[in-house]
Amino acid sequence: MCYNNLNCRKSLPALSLSMERISLLMEKASEIAASLLSWYDRCARSMPWRGINNPYYTWVSEAMLQQTRVETVLFYYDRFIARFPAISDLAAADESDVLKMWEGLGYYSRARNLHRGARQVMEEYEGILPRNPDLLRKIHGIGPYTAGAIASIAYQVPVPAVDGNVIRVLSRLYGIRESVQQPSVRKNLDLLAAGLVPLDRPGDYNQAVMDLGATVCVSGTPDCGRCPLSSFCDAFACGDASDLPVLPKSKPPKTEYWTVPVIRCRESLLLRLRKETLLQGLWCFPMLSCQAEEATTYLEKKTGLVCHPSGSAAPARHVFTHRIWEMTVLPLLTEDQLPMPGEERWIPYRELSSLAFPTAMNKALLVAAQLFGVEKSFPAGKL
Ligand code: ADE
Repeated sequence: MCYNNLNCRKSLPALSLSMERISLLMEKASEIAASLLSWYDRCARSMPWRGINNPYYTWVSEAMLQQTRVETVLFYYDRFIARFPAISDLAAADESDVLKMWEGLGYYSRARNLHRGARQVMEEYEGILPRNPDLLRKIHGIGPYTAGAIASIAYQVPVPAVDGNVIRVLSRLYGIRESVQQPSVRKNLDLLAAGLVPLDRPGDYNQAVMDLGATVCVSGTPDCGRCPLSSFCDAFACGDASDLPVLPKSKPPKTEYWTVPVIRCRESLLLRLRKETLLQGLWCFPMLSCQAEEATTYLEKKTGLVCHPSGSAAPARHVFTHRIWEMTVLPLLTEDQLPMPGEERWIPYRELSSLAFPTAMNKALLVAAQLFGVEKSFPAGKL
């Protein structure tokens, strides 16, 4: 066992934690929490949702913080709360307005879920989020992590909130050297996490672990010299903190190739409200799987639209988590705003800034503005 600078247990399977080790860890739990809270009192990052006892604010911040850095969230959070100051405001809004407030933040299903969840809270809980983590988990879009975060941060319920940062900290602290994606390992991590949460200040404690994971116990090379937990840390003692946690090899993202016609008719553009899971509810240019050279013929056949290229095509690229869109942006002009048989609509430039328009399409729009030679008069950049 390698704990607190005793012998290194690097070669032992992490799950065969001996009773001796478990009781040692439990004994140390309150010391670990105290060290972390004292560090947090000195080093906590200042965030607008901290120190305000409002479960709705905690919920919004946690939804935004999933997969997204604090620095990015700050702007979106303030704007979102100004627009929807209470759950009732969010529940009453149209989904399109909620997506507009989320525009650029990505992972839009978070916004759709938050919106549906807000409606559920109005219907089932008179607009007040429950404090019980089991009830929280029944709300649309709230999983175990968010339930733990809301219950502990907003209601001081001593439950853990285990996200990627926390898994990294705990796998190093406890020297877990097996894949943390294995259900049995994950279950043990949850138990260890629960065993550490103090009865006093559980919300601060959970946020302290998140801050530690984001600023000190970072992936790659952690800054163990600044860590308040280094004297308790198995991986620090063993010298393998940068190898932990053990994660499965991530699959490379899949590349998709699209021809993206940006079709102008006077002061309007042809857009489509997406129905697909990715970017559902956002407005996109038509996306064709044919080659750029075949696009005008294809469009005419499908929609009757007669288009003329206005300059040559140019590339644009957008990287999602598991997907890459390699786009060939094709600037096209047409004379008539023919009504479209499908989901496409003619959108006047002036209305574009009020629609939810994803970053991938903003990139295509910027390229199109250059191709048309109309950077100044085009809506690109206003979005
Ligand atoms: N990541 C997710 N939630 C967080 C929080 N409340 N504070 C800091 N980082 C976080």
